Amino acid sequence: MIGHKQKMVDNNQIGDSSEQVIRTVELSKTYPQMDVPAVDKLNLEVGKGEIFGLLGPNGAGKTTTAGMLTTRVIPTAGQAFIGGINVRKHPTLVKQLIGVVSQQNTLDRSLTVRENLYYHGLLFGMGVKESARVADELLEKFHLGSWGKKSVFALSGGMAQRLMVARAIFHSPAVLFMDEPTAGLDPQSRLALWEILQGLNSEGQTILLTTHYMEEADQLCNRVAIMDHGQILALDSPVNLKKSIGADAILTVRVEGDPLGLIEVLKLSIDGVSASREIEGGVEIQVSETEKLLPRVINLAESNGISILDISLAETTLETVFINLTGKELRD
Ligand SMILES: Nc1ncnc2c1ncn2[C@@H]1O[C@H](COP(=O)(O)OP(=O)(O)OP(=O)(O)O)[C@@H](O)[C@H]1O
Ligand SMILES: [Mg+2]
Repeated sequence: MIGHKQKMVDNNQIGDSSEQVIRTVELSKTYPQMDVPAVDKLNLEVGKGEIFGLLGPNGAGKTTTAGMLTTRVIPTAGQAFIGGINVRKHPTLVKQLIGVVSQQNTLDRSLTVRENLYYHGLLFGMGVKESARVADELLEKFHLGSWGKKSVFALSGGMAQRLMVARAIFHSPAVLFMDEPTAGLDPQSRLALWEILQGLNSEGQTILLTTHYMEEADQLCNRVAIMDHGQILALDSPVNLKKSIGADAILTVRVEGDPLGLIEVLKLSIDGVSASREIEGGVEIQVSETEKLLPRVINLAESNGISILDISLAETTLETVFINLTGKELRD
């Protein structure tokens, strides 16, 4: 099936010659009656075998971007290519090259678990035998082997999602799209899904996921595009994005009374403070010198008559990168 699909793309002269699985050129969407674009001149390239993350807060334009790449949302400007094929011009062809897991449960409730896979195969032009074989193979692979004959109503949220992933990759798509894959999942199901996605990726599956969980982007993705207001603010590997901050750690101090005095004291007395901001009841400071930092801060506060309620030191995260870029938190 893969060979067949790849050949279809290679032989097709209707696309561009890009090696990238996903490519966008100034891709934009402004919804009717909206003054500002939901996606604004996006230029993006995702290579074969990558897990690529679109990370951003609510309304950043993640779903709209994924929607345009998966033929569901019609762009108002620019172009998108999947496997070199122009999405706008050849949506039917592109649909065969992609697998999509949306945020909603889109399983067919009138079918059994196994039938949800089997009929998907038939729909994508696979033969009866091949479709049955792949259905059984994927049920095993996704730990749903004993659930094949059951109604999809019997599945837990995590299981239903595994079935949707199995269905999305059934026809060996060139790229798997997942919109907020772990939103609403319990921590255990979230880890289980990460493992599944890593497993698929290690077999060569290209994946584009959207998320507003920085840990998810950090743990799972080879490269991450940080998005806000329909634009990419930064794009790199999680490690490089975090390095770009120029700080090794985040010091958080909560104090009694006004925290602003403490910011001044710390900036004056501690080396390597690269940024600071006020948070509820305290301050957050980005630092690159962490040796004996906590006792030094406590002493400094004491000698300046500031009472510390709580103090902690944590590694920088993609959230820190986002805050530096936008001045706000991912979950604001
Ligand atoms: N169908 C629509 N009609 C009008 N405006 C829309 C539509 N879909 C999205 N928008 C608007 O476009 C902007 C981007 O929305 P989008 O859903 O792409 O963001 P998102 O990053 O996926 O956010 P979320 O984290 O909430 O899923 C938002 O301002 C949203 O209100
Ligand atoms: Mg969304």
